[in-house]
Amino acid sequence: MEAGSQRESDPIVIRPSRDADIDAMLAIYRRHIRRGVEEGAEEGGMPEPDDLRDRRKNMRNRRLPHLVATSGGEIVGYAYAVLFRKRPAYRYTAKHSIYVHHEHLGRGVGRLLLQALIDACAAAGFRQMIGYIDADNAASLGLHERFGFSRVGFLPGVAYRYGRWADSVMVQRPLGPGSTTTPPPLLGR
Ligand SMILES: CC(C)(COP(=O)(O)OP(=O)(O)OC[C@H]1O[C@@H](n2cnc3c(N)ncnc32)[C@H](O)[C@@H]1OP(=O)(O)O)[C@@H](O)C(=O)NCCC(=O)NCCS
Repeated sequence: MEAGSQRESDPIVIRPSRDADIDAMLAIYRRHIRRGVEEGAEEGGMPEPDDLRDRRKNMRNRRLPHLVATSGGEIVGYAYAVLFRKRPAYRYTAKHSIYVHHEHLGRGVGRLLLQALIDACAAAGFRQMIGYIDADNAASLGLHERFGFSRVGFLPGVAYRYGRWADSVMVQRPLGPGSTTTPPPLLGR
């Protein structure tokens, strides 16, 4: 497969994102949410570069991972974690997102990003990772299952898009000792 200057054989490298990556990340994201827009459903604004820039800055301050995958010098995917909830009691639990460029699906980018994100969250002291996945998103459900995430919740009809109600699946994975030991007293508050 050829996509711009990249080749399937180019190695995939994961690194922390930079401000200069923002446009490429937004393009990946927009492409995924534009899918099906003609059917009339995606409401609310698309994120703007400034939104993403602010989010990255906030996350850096809180030591939350924000990663990109590159191949042949192009951004082919990104992944990041935020706090599951803002209240202090939840500070050991991260919630994550992962997006792969539509021309680079199925070549292991998601696998590398998710492994790196798991490692980075564990290293930052998080004890649980949580994801919300569309119930009909077989690729994401498969990816998370492969990395030991369990399905811990089913949320029927929580989204309305592309002209229909959609269900979400909540997945969770412990990190390091999970909830079997007391956490250290301070973590990125
Ligand atoms: C989900 C997503 C990140 C997977 O990325 P990817 O780079 O295509 O995935 P990989 O090639 O690394 O595949 C890793 C694993 O995911 C699963 N997987 C990937 N595509 C799949 C598909 N179409 N059907 C079922 N399982 C699939 C498999 O378990 C695969 O492991 P295997 O190769 O050993 O079989 C990608 O499809 C994507 O960005 N989707 C749109 C955005 C999205 O849905 N994000 C997740 C929101 S929670």
